[in-house]
Amino acid sequence: MTMSVPPSDDVRSLSSYGRRPNTGWLCQVAVAPELRGRAVAKVLYAVACDWARAEGITTVGLDTAAPAEHLVAMYSRWGFKHVDEVHFPGKNYDSIVMTKRLSGR
Ligand SMILES: CC(C)(COP(=O)(O)OP(=O)(O)OC[C@H]1O[C@@H](n2cnc3c(N)ncnc32)[C@H](O)[C@@H]1OP(=O)(O)O)[C@@H](O)C(=O)NCCC(=O)NCCS
Repeated sequence: MTMSVPPSDDVRSLSSYGRRPNTGWLCQVAVAPELRGRAVAKVLYAVACDWARAEGITTVGLDTAAPAEHLVAMYSRWGFKHVDEVHFPGKNYDSIVMTKRLSGR
């Protein structure tokens, strides 16, 4: 899992949400197959949010393939809202942009 601050040029050019100030972009979310289902992704996400807060980030965004309903559902459970749809050049599917405001500590 990575957090891009600011979001990549691709994201910034495709979605106005990527151009908003104090926004970090969650990328490269992946857990090795043998470790899945043990809350590794959730723990990584909590650590990434702690880091983001310390860096002054107030909103976290991400993009995920629209057909990947289980991922959209997972991010929704984590509190992300569907705010935009984009199409990355060269991909044969649309992507959903989701954002979440980070609560203070
Ligand atoms: C998606 C992925 C990162 C989840 O990692 P993980 O460590 O197994 O996830 P966790 O154990 O922390 O579970 C997180 C949540 O997702 C759910 N979940 C995990 N994998 C799931 C799956 N394949 N289908 C449905 N739900 C799933 C869990 O039930 C859990 O739900 P909760 O938040 O309501 O408790 C992992 O399956 C993966 O690497 N997949 C391939 C790469 C990928 O698709 N990355 C996303 C790019 S946008």
